[in-house]
Amino acid sequence: MAKHDKKEIGISAILNPVPVVMVSCAGKDITSEEGRPNIITIAWAGTINSEPPMVSISVRKSRLSHKLISQTGEFVINLVNKGLAKSCDYCGVKSGRDEDKFSACGLTAVKAKGLEYAYAISEAPVSISCKVKSVSELGSHDMFIAEVVAVTADSYLMDENGKLCLDKAKLVAYNHGEYFLLGEKIGFFGYSLASDDIFEKRMGYSRKERDKYKHIREQKPKNGKKY
Ligand SMILES: Cc1cc2nc3c(=O)[nH]c(=O)nc-3n(C[C@H](O)[C@H](O)[C@H](O)COP(=O)(O)O)c2cc1C
Repeated sequence: MAKHDKKEIGISAILNPVPVVMVSCAGKDITSEEGRPNIITIAWAGTINSEPPMVSISVRKSRLSHKLISQTGEFVINLVNKGLAKSCDYCGVKSGRDEDKFSACGLTAVKAKGLEYAYAISEAPVSISCKVKSVSELGSHDMFIAEVVAVTADSYLMDENGKLCLDKAKLVAYNHGEYFLLGEKIGFFGYSLASDDIFEKRMGYSRKERDKYKHIREQKPKNGKKY
């Protein structure tokens, strides 16, 4: 059989890997059982614009979180690291209608920056406060399109110049029904054209280690523009 022999595998939303995030939200009345701060796990999430920064999440109408986000027009996307992975899965199989998922997971709800109603997860390495701009009914899911109004990150993720180093966050991705810890860094934006010096600086390889990563360097276009 030829190496690239192809088979049709049926039509589905097979785009992978995708981020998996814990979206936190709350109702206008947090003293009511359904309005208390809640968390829903979302895999259908994406970045959709740079300026202004905008994101989307797709949520089924049946979810309690759909009701809460529709009520307030607010939600927080909390990035998931290794320590949150189990809670992330849990919040994706239990509904806030039946229990307080913050307390079930031992997580802390903190008022989200830039928002009136929603809460962020204090334990998350990065929390992205979002205000809904529009909702599209797509079929199984409604897509909430939202603008990012604030972002908070754990200070251990900043370098001495205040630059965010997300590679330190041990983030989790979702691939065809399974969770994966992000692993080996194999390049960076534009690395295919980077000079040797910049490549080494960004990748952090010592000269001694160079041969170990030769296979990656050899993928660079020989006459490509360098920067
Ligand atoms: C890995 C994973 C990804 C999920 N992605 C979505 C999603 O993108 N949209 C959605 O509506 N539900 C998704 N779910 C299901 C909801 O998280 C789940 O139904 C949850 O219990 C709803 O909680 P709520 O009723 O408190 O809002 C996902 C679940 C898991 C485990």
